[in-house]
Amino acid sequence: MTLKAKYFLIVIFFFGNSIFAQNYEAKVDSLMNLMTLQEKIGQTVMYSGSWDQTGPIVGSDNGKYIREGNMGAMLNAFTVKGTFDLQKVAVEETRLGIPLLFGYDVIHGHRTIFPINLGLSASWDLNMVEESSRIAAEEASAEGLHWTFAPMVDIARDPRWGRVSEGAGEDVYLGSQIAKAYVKGFQGDDLSKHNTILACAKHFVGYGAAQAGRDYHTVNMDEGELRNVYLPPFKATVEAGVETFMSAFNELNGVPTSGNKFTLRDILRDEWGFKGLVVSDYISINELIPHGFAKDSTDAARIGMNAGVDMDMVGHLYRKFLKELVEQGKVSESYVSDACRRILMAKFKLGLFDDPYRYIDEKREAETKYKPEFLTKAREIAAASSVLLQNKNKALPLSKSTKTIAFIGPLVKDEYDILGNWAAKGDRNGKAVSVFEGISEYLKPNQILYAKGCDILKDDASGFDEAINTSKKADVIVLVMGEGHHMSGEAASRTNLKIPGIQPQLIKKIREANPNKKIVLVLMNGRPINLSDEVILVDTILEAWFPGTMGGAGVSDVLFGTYNPSGKLTMTFPRNVGQVPIYYNMKNTGRPIPDNNPNEDYKSSYIDTPNTPLFAFGHGLSYTTFQYSDLKLSSNTLTFSGEISASVTVTNTGTTDGNEIIQLYVHDKVASVTRPVKELKGFQKIFLKKGESKTVTFTISVEDLKFYNNEMHYAVEPGEFEIAIAPSSNFKFKNNFTLE
Ligand code: BGC
Repeated sequence: MTLKAKYFLIVIFFFGNSIFAQNYEAKVDSLMNLMTLQEKIGQTVMYSGSWDQTGPIVGSDNGKYIREGNMGAMLNAFTVKGTFDLQKVAVEETRLGIPLLFGYDVIHGHRTIFPINLGLSASWDLNMVEESSRIAAEEASAEGLHWTFAPMVDIARDPRWGRVSEGAGEDVYLGSQIAKAYVKGFQGDDLSKHNTILACAKHFVGYGAAQAGRDYHTVNMDEGELRNVYLPPFKATVEAGVETFMSAFNELNGVPTSGNKFTLRDILRDEWGFKGLVVSDYISINELIPHGFAKDSTDAARIGMNAGVDMDMVGHLYRKFLKELVEQGKVSESYVSDACRRILMAKFKLGLFDDPYRYIDEKREAETKYKPEFLTKAREIAAASSVLLQNKNKALPLSKSTKTIAFIGPLVKDEYDILGNWAAKGDRNGKAVSVFEGISEYLKPNQILYAKGCDILKDDASGFDEAINTSKKADVIVLVMGEGHHMSGEAASRTNLKIPGIQPQLIKKIREANPNKKIVLVLMNGRPINLSDEVILVDTILEAWFPGTMGGAGVSDVLFGTYNPSGKLTMTFPRNVGQVPIYYNMKNTGRPIPDNNPNEDYKSSYIDTPNTPLFAFGHGLSYTTFQYSDLKLSSNTLTFSGEISASVTVTNTGTTDGNEIIQLYVHDKVASVTRPVKELKGFQKIFLKKGESKTVTFTISVEDLKFYNNEMHYAVEPGEFEIAIAPSSNFKFKNNFTLE
């Protein structure tokens, strides 16, 4: 075909695209017929713009690669101006004019930052998860972005691992529900709308099980554990229509996940039928070499593509080596074509072939960021995500008429760490509302006393005296302390789970100076913290996580009772780091501790710490109290084709209206593979006025009771099950049903 004829075809192809908008397969095929092998490879290449700059310089190597047709996507390039310059090169200066995809880590908000994902999960509010990711997609797409590398759906049971902050915690069922809500929020109901973006389920798979919580570390688990615990949230995203997946950094049973044909082809493609594109994690194909799985870069490229990684994030390996690998017969050309096809398909679905500049609109960019309604929602979500861990002496809510309240700690006036890690383009300099600003809406200046006391990490106690004197002058003391934002997230594993630096010493000294005063500790952090000392030293602990742009306002709403706290933990808080990993749905062992003799010898226990956590999964208090009564099962027998319902009456027995998160747990007592001591199978968040009662009903069928057995069959086994509806995972079963 002459060059002229090819251009004619391209024109027909673009014109035709808008007429037959939905016939993407045919469009992709006709485009691919025009493409050389090198051009197809070009689509599998993703490079990075300059981190946190408003757009890479087109004259750099990136510009060169785009012009050569050697780039299909970019990350870390955003803003209308930045993406326009790059897109123009791709569309106007390459042979086929294929638009670029722009991806970015929009993890818990883009400009308007919501609580870190672990915090958001503590709201147990699927609408809020969806709404916050919808807003994130609005803001990100208005700055030229098409794709977020979120949600992270890794199950995380080791708080030493810094990335627990990016996920939904330890539970399979809750994690799966939340995973779906993120996908819905980011992708909306129609990807061709200019305010929807591709979501990406990451990190596939097992990354959260890194040995000793050390990031990027080895993962070993049997296939049953993989299928029963780590895969379900990923499968849920496929069911929700997620368009992209990211392979991970870790090895899984000796095979790095970015070169793992079993997980990427056998499970993801063949079993689950996933049709979207798989991108590697950042240079994770190159890392097959230090893993000891590839002998050099060419070998790594071969393994990555053969295993099923369609796009090479920043590694430069596909661009450099795929062509020769195909020519040598070491990589099948059909693999490259399939990868290219999936990438083009994503671009079609986004409507980029209709208009490559459709996400590039200066007016929309200016109007969309930090819209007042986004900020209102962020405030509401910050409040709903905080968890009241302990509230002795009813130290919270604070009263507006208290004469003076001392606010002490390095995070009182903070507008920086409050956004947490992976805060995309959230403005850390001036836009975020600090706790100090938040409480100023409730108190007059003469009621507020303040002292910083110390830094988060530095060893300098010179501010202690001022802090102690300030505390002595106040009627009530509120400490705002925690981790720095960089202490969780990627490459932020800790071996010590205490509140960092000398903050714990300051808490102790403030208590010593004020033995009878109410002390409230507001915590900001990205992981479960060891609070064993603090539960004794202070009256009240409010876990605020890193609550985001409107964090200080949302937290203040909780402090003063405008919002009655309703968050519940989605990750267990250990008593000390030696209990880790600790999660609610562990196995019973052959030597469980007997209820009637907790100290019996030769049981599965520690000699220096109880087995129980400090705060259990599902725990969270309210300013009111809820009573659960009258658990009823519609039948004590479940048949294989039937259903039973379980209902409970929940009454708000306190004096304040409030939300309650009601949790359904089941225990499969005997099975061919031992099952966890309890498993969450449902939850409902309901609002109850003071004095009000509601009956809450859950339906159970065999689908809820299935698990992978040792033959890797997903099946259910007859027998006896325990069941409970409870306010947290800390309860003992009293009811049973039988499956026959
Ligand atoms: C992280 C991913 C992230 C990617 C791109 C990697 O280091 O593991 O979660 O999406 O970088 O920024």
